[in-house]
Amino acid sequence: MTKQRKGIILAGGSGTRLWPITMGASKQLLPVYDKPMIYYPLSVLMLSGIREIAIITTPEDQAQFQRLMGDGSQWGLAFTWIIQARPEGLAQAYLLAGDFLAGAPSLMVLGDNIFFGHGLPEMLARASAQETGGTVFGYRVADPERYGVVDFDADGRVRSIIEKPEIPPSNYAVTGLYCLDGTAPAKAAQITPSVRGELEITALLEIYLAQGTLTVETMGRGYAWLDTGTHDSMLDAGNFVRTLQERQGLQIGSPDEIAFHQGWISPDTLRARARLFGKSTYGRYLHALVG
Ligand code: DAU
Repeated sequence: MTKQRKGIILAGGSGTRLWPITMGASKQLLPVYDKPMIYYPLSVLMLSGIREIAIITTPEDQAQFQRLMGDGSQWGLAFTWIIQARPEGLAQAYLLAGDFLAGAPSLMVLGDNIFFGHGLPEMLARASAQETGGTVFGYRVADPERYGVVDFDADGRVRSIIEKPEIPPSNYAVTGLYCLDGTAPAKAAQITPSVRGELEITALLEIYLAQGTLTVETMGRGYAWLDTGTHDSMLDAGNFVRTLQERQGLQIGSPDEIAFHQGWISPDTLRARARLFGKSTYGRYLHALVG
């Protein structure tokens, strides 16, 4: 029998690019408009139907994340808390989460990535249905040199994925969402640190590519992949969320709403959550959902 796919949120890192605001708090706990940043990537995992999730944080920040999110049971989820002692690279997450995964395939999302778009759950379901190999998502950006970039050959096949290239081979960045099979931890164990001392996610993806088992699915222009890497892009992400929420009267990235719609929590639990949030906009929104 195939194992159930598990989730990983990588929410460590030093956040030095955003100093001084990340000197006293983890980047992934900062607000993106009206919610902590980590709510958004968590929502992506939940939309793909994943309920067992490992959350990887720094040793200093773990207690604060736990204060915010507990053990996940309020959303019908089960969290496993894992510490990354030093930010030694994205691929290290698979080594740290090896016991948690226990051979299961995974969907890993970076704790600072925000995705929005019609058809996202369907796109994730397509990737998740693949039992072997991996899928990553390419997204067209104006400034690819800031990301892992896809190099396509003349026939549109992926030749390689290059981390922050000086001269980007395309405009397609690899987003921080990695749908990999159960061999990811074993493959991560084969990688050696790059010159900047990190186990690079691109090195892990190269192993899949060499085996011919990596799919790069491009997210069309109807999707928003928002970045929170700079002060400006964080503010833009907050404004994006505010604009859409105000216009539609619907929340983006509410774990409570998704848990309820997935049938993972009862109307009574949602009512209790709405009461907990009291008169805040979020509380009133949850209350209106359940009546
Ligand atoms: O956002 C997508 C990009 O994320 C990809 O296109 C790149 O291929 C990938 O390397 C990564 O690039 P970044 O420049 O955003 O990586 P950064 O070092 O900022 O780390 C991304 C997030 O992961 C950040 O929130 C901190 C966290 N992190 C990072 C490292 C290196 C960890 O939790 N542990 C780590 O060891």
